[in-house]
Amino acid sequence: MLRLNVNGKTHEIGDNVDPDTPLLWVLRDTLGLVGTKFGCGIGQCSACMVHLEGNPVQSCQVPVKNAAGVKITTIEGLAAADGTLTPVQQAWIDEDVPQCGYCQAGQIMHATALLHSNPNPTDEEIASAMSANICRCATYNRIRKAIHRASEHMSNRSNGTKAGGAV
Ligand code: FES
Ligand code: FES
Repeated sequence: MLRLNVNGKTHEIGDNVDPDTPLLWVLRDTLGLVGTKFGCGIGQCSACMVHLEGNPVQSCQVPVKNAAGVKITTIEGLAAADGTLTPVQQAWIDEDVPQCGYCQAGQIMHATALLHSNPNPTDEEIASAMSANICRCATYNRIRKAIHRASEHMSNRSNGTKAGGAV
């Protein structure tokens, strides 16, 4: 039996799940966390991106056995318990980023990790960091704007009244 820590909750994964199953399918099919999307299954699109210990990873490329005992965060785990969105999620709404929406969970997960490691990225740094995330609707300009908006919000917050908190 494997124990997964997903969005702060521990889940026991039964022996009926092959430990080599990609994490993506355990999240979606076993745990019902369908916000994480299947795009290509071969590490080419990042629709399946989640965080392992805060680092962005393609969950279709991680055998579930390698995620046991690691802090896993999915798109469902970003917002606060009371539903308050993170600055990245709010910026996505404010910039009206999604078109079909299919790639957007992966985009938000990657943008969130980017802003944790680089709170004020340049256009070039955004393009470089986000290049693994494919959007067939080509929402890249709005993604860039939303990342800058979230960055500004975080910067204002840390300079102003509310310090700290989620990205
Ligand atoms: S579904 Fe994982 S990279 Fe495309
Ligand atoms: S919004 Fe359609 S694939 Fe990105």
